[in-house]
Amino acid sequence: MTDPDLVIRSAELSDIKCIMALEQGSIVHPWESEAIKSLIADKNKKCYVAELKGEIVGYIGAETVLDECNIGNIVTRKDCRGRGFATEILGILLDVLKRDGISKVFLEVEHDNVPAIALYEKHGFTRYGLRSDYYGPGKDAVLMTKAL
Ligand SMILES: CC(C)(COP(=O)(O)OP(=O)(O)OC[C@H]1O[C@@H](n2cnc3c(N)ncnc32)[C@H](O)[C@@H]1OP(=O)(O)O)[C@@H](O)C(=O)NCCC(=O)NCCS
Repeated sequence: MTDPDLVIRSAELSDIKCIMALEQGSIVHPWESEAIKSLIADKNKKCYVAELKGEIVGYIGAETVLDECNIGNIVTRKDCRGRGFATEILGILLDVLKRDGISKVFLEVEHDNVPAIALYEKHGFTRYGLRSDYYGPGKDAVLMTKAL
């Protein structure tokens, strides 16, 4: 059961700093502010934040092309993990994509990112390929997809 205080909403430009802080605390190659700005501002991109009592504790970013979508990133703040927040935010994105007529969702995830792969499998994503050394030497990307 997710926290009743959790609110998922579309990201705004004023959220960029908080989203960057989430990225810097969690991702080996954090996105630049321009990339996050484009996630929020471009009409073919989607960005949602999870807010708990006024603090941003998670976010998801994705890009659509025709009837397909690629999820670029999902992060939950370190001290808030394991509480169902990513499940909630990913579920909302998938609902919106389905409503918008998107038929297929894709993503890449580092092969040893156990929590993220488990999250995606829980949401029905399946593996369809591997990109060797995608994140650097020995750091392969697992390619996953889900039909909506
Ligand atoms: C991946 C991540 C977003 C999960 O966020 P979270 O809010 O902790 O996830 P949830 O609490 O919603 O958990 C959802 C599912 O993920 C899996 N999961 C989460 N943490 C896990 C862990 N430490 N080990 C194994 N599986 C885990 C489980 O399947 C879990 O479902 P369950 O609770 O029913 O077993 C978070 O670990 C994170 O921010 N990691 C760093 C950023 C990252 O790697 N993002 C993915 C880039 S592709």
